[in-house]
Amino acid sequence: MMRAPFFRLIALVLCSTAPAWVAAQDYGDTPYVQTPQVVVDKMLEMAKVTAKDYLIDLGSGDGRLIITAAKKYGARGFGVDLNKSLVTLSNRNAAKAGVANRAVFYERDLHETDITQADVLTIYLLPEVNLMIRSRVLALKPGTRLVSHDYGFGEWPPDVEIVMDAPGKPVGRDQKSKVMYWMVPSRVAGKWLWQQAIDGKPQFVELNVDQVFQKITGTVSVSGRSAKMENAVLAGEHISFAAMLDIGGKPVRHEFSGKVINNAITGEMRRSGAPQSWTAMRTELRDPRFTDLKPGVMAR
Ligand SMILES: C[S@@+](CC[C@H](N)C(=O)[O-])C[C@H]1O[C@@H](n2cnc3c(N)ncnc32)[C@H](O)[C@@H]1O
Repeated sequence: MMRAPFFRLIALVLCSTAPAWVAAQDYGDTPYVQTPQVVVDKMLEMAKVTAKDYLIDLGSGDGRLIITAAKKYGARGFGVDLNKSLVTLSNRNAAKAGVANRAVFYERDLHETDITQADVLTIYLLPEVNLMIRSRVLALKPGTRLVSHDYGFGEWPPDVEIVMDAPGKPVGRDQKSKVMYWMVPSRVAGKWLWQQAIDGKPQFVELNVDQVFQKITGTVSVSGRSAKMENAVLAGEHISFAAMLDIGGKPVRHEFSGKVINNAITGEMRRSGAPQSWTAMRTELRDPRFTDLKPGVMAR
């Protein structure tokens, strides 16, 4: 398995005010550094954790993320860590907090951990390690939420990013932490077709979408006339966009929203008056761009 470059581990430890023993043990790809409790609380708040959620913490340290989620929100989940004594400590901490039935910890390599049941994934890992797991994260069910402490996922931009005070943080001089939030997007690239009453009569509407991570662009075409998708948003499996479509020779704003389920989208279209429903089927499937290619270079 690829390991994070040694200099990064040294850098993390050198700027650490944590005790020396922290660096002395084998912590796999990422050294052990605790997330301060205020940052844990913010991560769970940003992920909008509820009692219905199943959380997985990759590299769970002393278990604080999963234990807090279980205690504060009634959520369930597990954490994995390579360090046996941290796993023992986490299970003991969960028992002390009275949540051992909902927060469990295993001695396991995160790269060999099945993460497919996660509703929420929490991580505090080095950026290289994030990149190693990114394709597995993007393959999770659309709508899965992800929160990361300090480090991102390369070119995959977070949906939300904040910088906050992190008093007592054992690394860094400024006592600040970055928290980033993403939602795994549906794969919507390709062409979609449906019938809709646009100018008083049913017409075929074609949507042609390009996708780079969660960012979508494209056109909506009716009777050979194309309009740009405007204000396009893809949040997990929810898509919304507007288009200026021709009504009696004038451009009129139409607003679409819908839910993506594999090769279908169902939702509502609003113009003026009552909303109409729409159901589109995908007629051409393309791969979204989930790579580290430079902007402007489209992978097809
Ligand atoms: C920066 S600490 C984060 C601890 C905890 N999640 C927190 O935020 O307080 C990273 C943790 O990942 C663990 N770790 C590193 N590589 C790992 C791997 N390949 N599999 C499982 N755990 C790993 C380390 O032992 C360490 O406890």
